[in-house]
Amino acid sequence: MVDVILGLQWGDEGKGKIVDFFAPSYDIIARFQGGPNAGHTLYVRDKKIVLHQIPSGIFHDKAINLIGNGVVLDVVTLKKECETVASFGVDYTKNLYISKRTNLILPTHRALDKASESLKGNDKIGSTLKGIGPAYMDKTGRNALRVGDLLDKNFTSQYIKLRLKHQKLLDSMHFDEDISAWEDEFFEGIEFMRKFKIVNGEYFINDKISQGKKVLAEGAQGSMLDVDFGTFPFVTSSNTISAGVCTGLGVAPQKIKEVIGVTKAYCTRVGGGPFPTELNDETGEKLRKVGNEFGATTGRPRRCGWIDLVALKFACIINGVTQLVMTKADVLDAFDELKVCNAYKIDGVEQQEVPYQMSKVAIDPVYKSAEGWNTDTTKLTNYISLPVTMKNYVSNINSYLGVDIKYISNGPGRDQIIPVL
Ligand code: GDP
Ligand code: IMO
Ligand code: MG
Repeated sequence: MVDVILGLQWGDEGKGKIVDFFAPSYDIIARFQGGPNAGHTLYVRDKKIVLHQIPSGIFHDKAINLIGNGVVLDVVTLKKECETVASFGVDYTKNLYISKRTNLILPTHRALDKASESLKGNDKIGSTLKGIGPAYMDKTGRNALRVGDLLDKNFTSQYIKLRLKHQKLLDSMHFDEDISAWEDEFFEGIEFMRKFKIVNGEYFINDKISQGKKVLAEGAQGSMLDVDFGTFPFVTSSNTISAGVCTGLGVAPQKIKEVIGVTKAYCTRVGGGPFPTELNDETGEKLRKVGNEFGATTGRPRRCGWIDLVALKFACIINGVTQLVMTKADVLDAFDELKVCNAYKIDGVEQQEVPYQMSKVAIDPVYKSAEGWNTDTTKLTNYISLPVTMKNYVSNINSYLGVDIKYISNGPGRDQIIPVL
């Protein structure tokens, strides 16, 4: 049986914290897509740690953590991350497994990302420049090197062949930076990979499922960044939605049970692209300040705005969300009035559908006001003690989405999460 935790907005919903919270109930935590563009923040013994590629179950002794075939893996980042988790006493050689079919991010992928983004002019995606797009292009273009290839004695010659191909592309894009230091690090990372349990991920996970083990699939990014259903072309290059679990781990759809969708109590986005409820005013500034909305991977300020139920409903539909977790509710603690977007006005007509190519349509968000609770909720530990206005905010969201918020997160700490009664 597989449950899924994924983001319903434009990423950074707090998935890392929520996976860490649920992890003790699971035997395997598996990342199914994305790569080091992700930054998942956890607090372990009150110390902040940001994971980019290692699943967020790594701090739980009993859990096996699997990097699935749908991920694109940067061995340099992985090495650094392993050193960080080891400083917390984690033996990653014991509980971190990697699928043979996982595609590798090469130094030239990072260079290609940089070159292609710099040619984009005003339409920059705002990529994290971690090489994600080019690495997935080599996967679908059937050129990529995969983790299983490391076991092949011809790995270096395969690398050189692909590198030459990439160099031609880089030359055509007038990219002339010296990446030899990146290559040295890459080959150190490749050596480091020999420490891991490299497995046939799809057999590994299906065997465990047959033995009755519980799997938690951890998503990266968010549904509005999905390459098919997000705000294309301002998206990432993978399927971030629940369907990605099947292709990204090799599990059949009927094995998936709960799809736990994570949403902030408001909305953020980092990078370019449409964001209907964005607030370019002091309210947006207040959300950014109180919510400490700066990217966990790049440190960039996140764009902030009110919660967008039209986009959330869309995400609930395409993911088949069975329950919701609302994070960062405490960030709204100091507002008299809140706003909730429950329709888009396009060409003067109100609608409740996310339009095709949001980036080419002028969307005027239609808001309903909600009373703020204006109380510090960060120390509260049970649902009964929550302000009535917060409960109303939650039930209004539930009734619009037709799915219930089952947990409210009221702070970044491990214990700051309240089950909804
Ligand atoms: P992820 O990519 O979805 O894992 O989210 P990030 O780690 O990029 O961003 C979420 C940020 O919000 C991190 O700094 C978390 O520590 C923080 N966070 C998570 N849940 C809460 C919450 O309920 N309240 C507050 N104030 N911060 C939270
Ligand atoms: P987590 O898992 C927020 C955004 C980038 C950019 C676009 C494409 O922490 O939620 P890419 O590097 O994939 O080519 O960038 O997607 N992006 C994210 N935004 N959270 C993330 O991950 C993101 N991963 C990518 O900012 O706009
Ligand atoms: Mg993040």
